[in-house]
Amino acid sequence: MNVTIFGSGYVGLVTGACLAEVGNHVLCVDVDQRKIDILNNDGVPIYEPGLEDLIRKNRAAGRLAFTTDPAQGIAHGLFQFIAVGTPPDEDGSADLRHVLGVARTIGEHINGYRIVVDKSTVPVGTADRVAETIREAQAARGTQHEVDVVSNPEFLKEGAAIEDFMRPDRVVVGTDNPRTGELLRALYAPFNRNHDRVMVMDIRSAELTKYAANAMLATKISFMNELSNIAEAVGADIEQVRLGIGSDPRIGYQFIYPGCGYGGSCFPKDVRALERTAQGIDYRPDLLQAVEAVNDRQKDVLFRKIDARFDGALAGRTIALWGLAFKPNTDDMREASSRRLMEQLWAAGARVRAYDPVAAEETRRIYGEREDLTLVDEQMAALDGADALAIVTEWAQFRSPDFDAIKAKLGTPVVFDGRNIYDPAQVAAAGLDYVSIGRRP
Ligand code: UGA
Repeated sequence: MNVTIFGSGYVGLVTGACLAEVGNHVLCVDVDQRKIDILNNDGVPIYEPGLEDLIRKNRAAGRLAFTTDPAQGIAHGLFQFIAVGTPPDEDGSADLRHVLGVARTIGEHINGYRIVVDKSTVPVGTADRVAETIREAQAARGTQHEVDVVSNPEFLKEGAAIEDFMRPDRVVVGTDNPRTGELLRALYAPFNRNHDRVMVMDIRSAELTKYAANAMLATKISFMNELSNIAEAVGADIEQVRLGIGSDPRIGYQFIYPGCGYGGSCFPKDVRALERTAQGIDYRPDLLQAVEAVNDRQKDVLFRKIDARFDGALAGRTIALWGLAFKPNTDDMREASSRRLMEQLWAAGARVRAYDPVAAEETRRIYGEREDLTLVDEQMAALDGADALAIVTEWAQFRSPDFDAIKAKLGTPVVFDGRNIYDPAQVAAAGLDYVSIGRRP
């Protein structure tokens, strides 16, 4: 089938590459000439494991192409995916400028029946606005081609996006037209494996499902972070509590890891956007506000522990940081806990020596050259001249370090672990103090 994808960001590229991989002919459209040039030269503007190979392979097979020409895109695909960004407005609601911009462009060029698929995370009611925008643009040029607008939210995790797309738990399709539902079922059939993963529902339920999923996951994390603070204060160990509750299948082991807060482009933005939706209908979203507030406070937790350990005298000290990205296997720094920590350390007069396997360049782009930030290429080099080590992102390569070497390098033998990746007894055996989240010292 022919598929057009507007937006060659993270979601658009993964969707395009994976749909091409199963035999569709995919044309990706983006307004950013620089991005399209990179892609047309076998490069990838973002870091996502497996994506570069998939794009190269499918381009070579003639199933995947990139252009800045929207007219060509609209002529190409029966399916027109909208996968452009929805950055938060000043008040936290999703900014639909780019989504509706694509809708207008589709209306201006459409030359036959099209299925327009909202892949971007958009508030309930957006599909109606997309349909209306296309209708208006068509009316202005005197055409009335039939269009179906479908909501098809994505549930990809950064760092595992290809796997999530190729082997989905579910594919949610919101449409009011049963025939369109069948066409989307056919498009997604190659990803079904043993049983049907496609759930066809009404449009508004599909739109809300996306927010419900992310808000529920964020709630699990904030719940555990709150519990970790209580555990610490009452002398319990949150890791024991985690195992104790996770064994109940109604609760489950997944997504109940306490830490130094959730970040990324999705949870913070989507929780806020859902709050705005609720407020827009005069419903007070108490639980969602608490989820956000707990997370915000949790992002301070590492700084508070470091500051307490050094009796508030951080000026002139150097703190080594392992991990900058908001989570492992990505270079994404959006709302990363490392940012809050670094900014607080700098404000207290401390220096940061940081190592991240892939996010150094992104960090440099955000903060520029500054004399209180040194980015190093090797994890142990972060410890040179450092007073203490803080772990912010749980990259696999940090999980079994040489604790004796860490002890030898640090001015003060203390490790602050924002992700609870070590066994406290093992760290203690090396003569290091170990300060983690919600555990007994
Ligand atoms: C999230 C969802 O997991 C995806 O299903 C969804 O499609 C995506 O948002 C989206 O809306 O596009 P992502 O933001 O890539 O995916 O990352 P996650 O793996 O969910 O991690 C989010 C944050 O939660 C990270 O900062 C991570 O460190 C933190 N986290 C996660 C915890 O603190 N504890 C946990 O138990 C799990």
